[in-house]
Amino acid sequence: MGKVVAGNWKMHHGPAAAAAFFSRFSPRTAPDAVEILFFPPVISLAAAMRTVGVPAGFGVQNIHSEKAGAFTGETSAEMAGEAGARFALIGHSERRHIFGESDAEVSAKTGAAVRAGLVPVVCVGELLGERRAGLLEEVLRRQVGAIVEPLATASRFMVAYEPVWAIGTGETATPGDAAEAHAIVRSALGELASAPILYGGSVKPGNASALMSAPDVDGVLVGGASLDPDIFARIVEAGAAAGSADPVRER
Ligand code: 13P
Repeated sequence: MGKVVAGNWKMHHGPAAAAAFFSRFSPRTAPDAVEILFFPPVISLAAAMRTVGVPAGFGVQNIHSEKAGAFTGETSAEMAGEAGARFALIGHSERRHIFGESDAEVSAKTGAAVRAGLVPVVCVGELLGERRAGLLEEVLRRQVGAIVEPLATASRFMVAYEPVWAIGTGETATPGDAAEAHAIVRSALGELASAPILYGGSVKPGNASALMSAPDVDGVLVGGASLDPDIFARIVEAGAAAGSADPVRER
């Protein structure tokens, strides 16, 4: 199966900028050579879905674990689905480290996404200090361990490995680093190990191909380099090429 190339726009591109992005986004790939996903700000979801010109899936960057209630500023998985989202990023490192989301909250949100029929894309990854202290495997096993139960009933899900020290820093994990971490994530997933595992953290046109050719790397989750339509198109094209070079896998 082909690679997944996902763009997480974070808090960039309002509705007008989303439409402007899609007026210029036209990767040179066969429609089914790569799975393209976008995570725009929720306020731009409708404009993005209305103006996209290529086959692509859309998701939200965060959900609340409850269906509805007095939670000012939050969006439930059901509401996101009603608005057209099919995917939900959960536990992004910025949610964990800026907004203080715990493993327990990430687990609850994962369950909420599954119940609402969204495809969870759950993010895991270690801090620089944790890596330096030799805690990579322990951190990944703890973060993945917190989500296996809610994921057990998911018809589809993905995990994104995003080392926190490589996010927005220009510092990229080597393909070997990514492969090592992805193998740990896959092992920690146990019976769920056939899920796609994406790499995220300073992915650019110049490193996307090598990363997506590494063992166990099924795609990429791109932040900064997904904001420009021409740059992101080049990463999508790298994904299509890497996917066609893959041996056939049941994934
Ligand atoms: P950058 O690609 O900007 O490093 O961000 C990665 C990321 O956090 C994607 O979710």
